[in-house]
Amino acid sequence: MQKPLFNVLLDDGREAHFQHAATLLESLEAQDVAVHYQCREGYCGSCRVQLQEGDVYYAEEPMAWLNEGDILPCCCIPKSDIKIKL
Ligand code: FES
Repeated sequence: MQKPLFNVLLDDGREAHFQHAATLLESLEAQDVAVHYQCREGYCGSCRVQLQEGDVYYAEEPMAWLNEGDILPCCCIPKSDIKIKL
């Protein structure tokens, strides 16, 4: 098993990790953390969650509307340990 890169704390108290994955969504799915999604490409906004602590990075700027503090797990990767509200 690969070493986790960053810790991902969920608002319900669960802990996951960002491991080597293309996106935060893929990494969470691999750890049985369910996140709603549709397009998986940053268009629909279905996967939107609240980032409460830490920073994420987008390889390409997503098209979906984001409120302040929202992130799209389908197309971002953490840059630090993060805390999210599903
Ligand atoms: S699943 Fe569509 S924006 Fe993330």
